[in-house]
Amino acid sequence: MGTVLPSGLALALALALALPSLALENGLARTPPMGWMSWERFRCDVDCQADPRNCISEQLFMEMADRLAEDGWRELGYEYVNIDDCWSAKQRDAAGQLAPDPKRFPSGIKALADYVHARGLKLGIYADLGVFTCGGYPGTMLEHVKQDAQTFAAWGVDMLKLDGCYSSAEEQAKGYPEMARALNATGRPIVYSCSWPAYQGGLPPKVNYTILAEICNLWRNYDDIQDSWDSVLSIVDWFFTNQDVLQPAAGPGHWNDPDMLIIGNFGLSYEQSRSQMALWTVMAAPLLMSTDLRTISPSAKEILQNRLMIQINQDPLGIQGRRIVKEKSHIEVFLRPLSQAASALVFFSRRTDMPFRYTTSLAKLHFPEDAVYEVQDVYVGKIVGALKTADNFTVVINPSGVVVWYLRPVALPLQPWHVVRQQAPGKGFHPALL
Ligand SMILES: *[C@@H]1O[C@H](CO)[C@@H](O)[C@H](O)[C@H]1NC(C)=O
Ligand SMILES: *[C@@H]1O[C@H](CO)[C@@H](O)[C@H](O)[C@H]1NC(C)=O
Ligand SMILES: *[C@@H]1O[C@H](CO)[C@@H](O)[C@H](O)[C@H]1NC(C)=O
Repeated sequence: MGTVLPSGLALALALALALPSLALENGLARTPPMGWMSWERFRCDVDCQADPRNCISEQLFMEMADRLAEDGWRELGYEYVNIDDCWSAKQRDAAGQLAPDPKRFPSGIKALADYVHARGLKLGIYADLGVFTCGGYPGTMLEHVKQDAQTFAAWGVDMLKLDGCYSSAEEQAKGYPEMARALNATGRPIVYSCSWPAYQGGLPPKVNYTILAEICNLWRNYDDIQDSWDSVLSIVDWFFTNQDVLQPAAGPGHWNDPDMLIIGNFGLSYEQSRSQMALWTVMAAPLLMSTDLRTISPSAKEILQNRLMIQINQDPLGIQGRRIVKEKSHIEVFLRPLSQAASALVFFSRRTDMPFRYTTSLAKLHFPEDAVYEVQDVYVGKIVGALKTADNFTVVINPSGVVVWYLRPVALPLQPWHVVRQQAPGKGFHPALL
């Protein structure tokens, strides 16, 4: 076993006490934002002549909004429709304002926002603090920060991702807080996603997570995700290797963002898709899908629409989880403490041979002595049974796959900091009591 952590309960307590007192208080993103974002799947495809169905155009965002509203996504919390790079014209307009490409967004962004809002959804947009966006479109230089914030607010935008291509560290240190103030000054609630740390290596001393939590609702810490398992693994490795820095930075209103979900695309197997969903959930990550919702397979949809998984991701305590075990056998165990003394455990296999029988106990995972938990397998959906801390158990984990457990205490040893809730396990068990 590797790193040792206190029990889920003790961890929850310690973290609750350690929450930073200062955080961005715009009342938004109290749980990790959920929705859809164009970048990973649709990139900077602007050739609507050759590829009308997939190019970055108002049509694409309207069709995704329709799918979110009609295919059960919105009710589960997937509410943001986020435009990424390559939406704008190649030049600012005569008034110096950002303007959408007139061919691809003939109705304008305001009309698109209205369309999205009419479906009970929210609209996100993209800008870049710099000379150009990463895709070469007009950037938001320091002198444009206020104007662009006002433009987005006037259009009815609900979320802004501010990227950082083509700007210096000094410009970023000025511009990211300035945009926070400019968004606030518009009076419109706009979730603010900062790519700032990703451009500064993601770690102290260059990155100050206290400051980030004061100005941003979420931030991209690390590299862009690509459509491959290698990319997912590199992100997972970086986030959990640096969990001592990153994990305490997250909380209601301010989240680490390991980037989009690529489930439903081309690079992940079924097992790997389940792993990305589970590991993003443990990380309290935003659930921003970047896939074609018009053609998504039933199995990918089922993973992304797993109610209990989403409930865990959206837990109101907002405590990011940690890797608590790294075995020589290439099995890793992750724990996320949840409200009402519940926890999520993810058993992850990095093996490449065959399903692995992993035996452990809650005692070995530092759960409190003499407790009893009702265990539900999050993907299988079934209640596994009641488990005492001392009981040995075995989970069978597929190669590059996960087993995910939701543990709800049915009996806890008396501890001074919380009320013990006794509930009979069995048929009437409802995990959704938050
Ligand atoms: C602006 O900031 C103040 C102070 O933090 C906050 O109360 C208010 O809700 C913010 N308004 C918006 C629109 O973000
Ligand atoms: C981060 O910024 C905060 C607030 O400005 C400051 O108090 C703190 O010392 C900084 N932390 C580091 C490690 O520089
Ligand atoms: C669990 O397994 C360990 C050996 O790994 C054993 O010492 C212990 O008695 C077992 N516990 C129970 C409750 O069976």
